[in-house]
Amino acid sequence: TGTSRRIAVFGAGYIGLVTGACFAELGHRVVVRDIQPERIRLLNSGEIPFFEPGLGDLIARNKERLSFTLDVQEAVSEAEVVFVCVDTPPTASGDADLSRVWAVIDAVRDASHLVAIVVKSTVPVGTGARVRAALDERGLTHVGYASNPEFTAEGRAVEDFLHPDRVVIGTSDGDKAAAWVTALYKPLDSPIELMDVASAEMVKLASNALLATRITFINEIATVCEATGADIGHVSRAVGLDHRLGPHFLKAGLGYGGSCFPKDSRALRAMASNSGYPFQLLNAVIQVNELQPRRAVQRLKAELNGLKGRRIALLGMTFKPATDDMREAPSTTLAARLLAEGATVTCWDPMAPHTTAHQDPWSSTTRHPDPLSALTDADAAILVTEWPELTDIDWPTAARTMRTPLFLDGRNLLDPTTLLAAGFTHMGVGRTTRRPS
Ligand code: UDX
Repeated sequence: TGTSRRIAVFGAGYIGLVTGACFAELGHRVVVRDIQPERIRLLNSGEIPFFEPGLGDLIARNKERLSFTLDVQEAVSEAEVVFVCVDTPPTASGDADLSRVWAVIDAVRDASHLVAIVVKSTVPVGTGARVRAALDERGLTHVGYASNPEFTAEGRAVEDFLHPDRVVIGTSDGDKAAAWVTALYKPLDSPIELMDVASAEMVKLASNALLATRITFINEIATVCEATGADIGHVSRAVGLDHRLGPHFLKAGLGYGGSCFPKDSRALRAMASNSGYPFQLLNAVIQVNELQPRRAVQRLKAELNGLKGRRIALLGMTFKPATDDMREAPSTTLAARLLAEGATVTCWDPMAPHTTAHQDPWSSTTRHPDPLSALTDADAAILVTEWPELTDIDWPTAARTMRTPLFLDGRNLLDPTTLLAAGFTHMGVGRTTRRPS
């Protein structure tokens, strides 16, 4: 147990809240600041604004060391370090929108008492250098600067933060932020990679782009499997046993979604293009991923001889299980495409926010409280999100309740033989379609 520090976290989203709660857990005093009054009000009344396993407990357990505010002064005046955890959404040009990052830098302009400003937000390479120059211009040369990208995945963010594979800290030579930020992470007992600011910014973009590339690669292998009669399950497993490749991120599916991979791969592509280099491999990854849910619709369309007037059930809406996050979820493309083909769309999800019902295309679909009622009278079902609940369904009953028992398992979650025995025609990703005998 090291010295207890005073930390201000700007941004009460996934990264900011997890960072704040975990640093409080490590014994530090943390003030989290956000610009959304509703968010701060919720947090102050003991609720969290989204679902993340373990986060509510962690916040409750550390509430005497953790506070939430709208007020910049309240957050910064006592702080030794400011963590910038605001979002950096894409602009029309595909570049990251850094206005929220700059708003924080501007807000803390008088904070000459700070040891350092630490940026966790995902930013283009070169951002840190520009922030450094702005701080220097304001006479804040003694305030350190560090890039400290975050690699936590939603649904396991607390676990990932407290047990990271590595911590990346980028600073300029001689910046006292290096030792200071390193000390914060020391208790986690994970490798700490110290480097320059630009490299630290690049690690985050490179990691996410490589993971997105792996997923897309296996999705393309899956398409070739479908065309040739190989089975992606066997192929992924055996490929992943090569210690040089490893087993992770080799699950074929309906494409990657979420708040990071789509955005970060586009941001890296834009950054490369802006510097005069067209990143062709990444460009292909992005294009293939955009096609992936469309291909699924195309396959159903062929199987059903058209989708007009058909009723299609989507099982799962969130971009992955154990989250209520709908950002860039493949389900949204599926629903929109199915509706455009003239199909009726029903859906089920245990956690997707009910406010989606007001948003396009979900406002034109019918949400059901359980999978079986979503399947009633359907011509086909698509398993979109691999919710564990879906492994427990009474499949013979499900097949009888549907108009046509056709099942497209978009995550290869279920055992095809179980579905075939229940009377389904089974389509998977990367395996040939099988019909009941
Ligand atoms: C990701 C990174 O894992 C994390 O390090 C980074 O900080 C933020 O982005 P997250 O977006 O929470 O985290 O989700 P992740 O679990 O990595 O999944 C991303 C997407 O890839 C999901 O849509 C998932 O379904 C898909 N995926 C993942 C596959 O299709 N196949 C796989 O084998 C793995």
